Amino acid sequence: MENKKQNRLRTLTEPFKIKVVEPLKVTAEEYREEALEKAGYNPFLLSSKDVFIDLLTDSGTGAMSDNQWGAIMVGDESYAGARSWEKLENVVKDLTGMPYVLPTHQGRAAERILYSTIGGPNKVFISNTHFDTTRANIEFVGSTAIDIVCPEAFDNQSDYPFKGNIDLQKLEALIAQYGKENIAAVIMTVTNNSSGGQPVSMENFKAVRKICDANGIFLVMDGCRIAENSYFVHHKEAACSNKTYREIAQEMFALSDAFVMSAKKDGMVNMGGLLTLRDEALSVKCKNLLIISEGFTTYGGLSGRDMEALAVGLVEVFDEDYLHYRIKSTTYLGEGLRKKGIPVVWPIGGHAVYIDAKELYKNIPLKEYPGQALVCDLYLKGGVRTVEVGSVMFGKYDENGELIPAEKELVRLAIPRRVYTQSHIDYVLDVFDDILEMRDRKNGYEITYEPPFLRHFTAHFKPINK
Ligand code: F0G
Repeated sequence: MENKKQNRLRTLTEPFKIKVVEPLKVTAEEYREEALEKAGYNPFLLSSKDVFIDLLTDSGTGAMSDNQWGAIMVGDESYAGARSWEKLENVVKDLTGMPYVLPTHQGRAAERILYSTIGGPNKVFISNTHFDTTRANIEFVGSTAIDIVCPEAFDNQSDYPFKGNIDLQKLEALIAQYGKENIAAVIMTVTNNSSGGQPVSMENFKAVRKICDANGIFLVMDGCRIAENSYFVHHKEAACSNKTYREIAQEMFALSDAFVMSAKKDGMVNMGGLLTLRDEALSVKCKNLLIISEGFTTYGGLSGRDMEALAVGLVEVFDEDYLHYRIKSTTYLGEGLRKKGIPVVWPIGGHAVYIDAKELYKNIPLKEYPGQALVCDLYLKGGVRTVEVGSVMFGKYDENGELIPAEKELVRLAIPRRVYTQSHIDYVLDVFDDILEMRDRKNGYEITYEPPFLRHFTAHFKPINK
């Protein structure tokens, strides 16, 4: 035990060693200039072979362990009643305490099945923050999705530890406004991805359960990063400091009526999703949709080998050494950037660091997309791929075609699980020295092509040279 603590005071080290390697191509800035121009200055359109450090997302980009790869070899591909399904079902039931488990190919499939079953026209969903696919699946069936993250989340600098929390007063007010019979569900996203990967406290979750109980409202947990959330709860919420990460997760599951999961995050696999339920009648309805759109109930959207890997991943993710390294490594990047004077969203969340591009590139007007400028600069200077979460992603136009900017101009650096080492992270920090030299830049980008929906994925840009 003592040894372990001593190690933790030293350099932050990965609690694993490398057995298989994937080579990375080192490129020159001139090469990247050409690649980025060809990609229409949109890093989504780059070939991954031209990316050195890929921080686009933490979803499905993690490295599996030797135990997971080993489990893949015993995958049972039987159409019905596969051994691999029985293994996964047992692990998920044991973890969540929920009796009905539906396997899906990824998170949004679980969302579509659940929200199209409990939603519909005139129904309202309330969340700390709906993730994009969650909102899209809700709106697609004619329901309304309302975000009510706590007020502390709007201050990027305060130390408040649980900026992922829901605003309890607003929750009660909305229930009164819309009528409890019209609220299809309250969805707690843990950690709160769209609000900086910030955690949700146990206290907040319990208070939401109480309000839902008083009004007979269904409570869903979107827990694709539940292990990371449990780490924060253990370390930042005194009442939970004597509980293990897994026990904390189980306490949150016990408070929920349903659990949707993109297993591509804390499931530690490259593809997969889950929907778990307590109510039998609801599970029958959802299983019908599962069979129509995903597959038979004992594999859903997954192959036997996928289910084997997920069964192992759901245990590995709660390992205390892994979680310590995981969260500290993200914090290390965030704190390092802050020390350099890069404005980051504070405190640092679990899976990503968010940079305030409006604050960093103060001289670039919003209509020239400062976030896109930073995303492009990071690629040009270091081959680092990140994503803009600002006016390219969420901006709208008024009737005169003028940009209505998004609430925030952020750039997300999402960290894949068990993929990059501390020296990769140090490299990313070094790239920001070049960025700091450009902080007075005045010109941004203009859009030369955009599709009608979800433009950030495929839009083309041009640098503005005034
Ligand atoms: N819920 C949350 C909170 C998510 O972050 C995601 C995906 C989903 C649901 C959908 O899951 O992709 O498996 O269908 N987030 C990824 C990201 C895409 O980059 O943050 P999926």
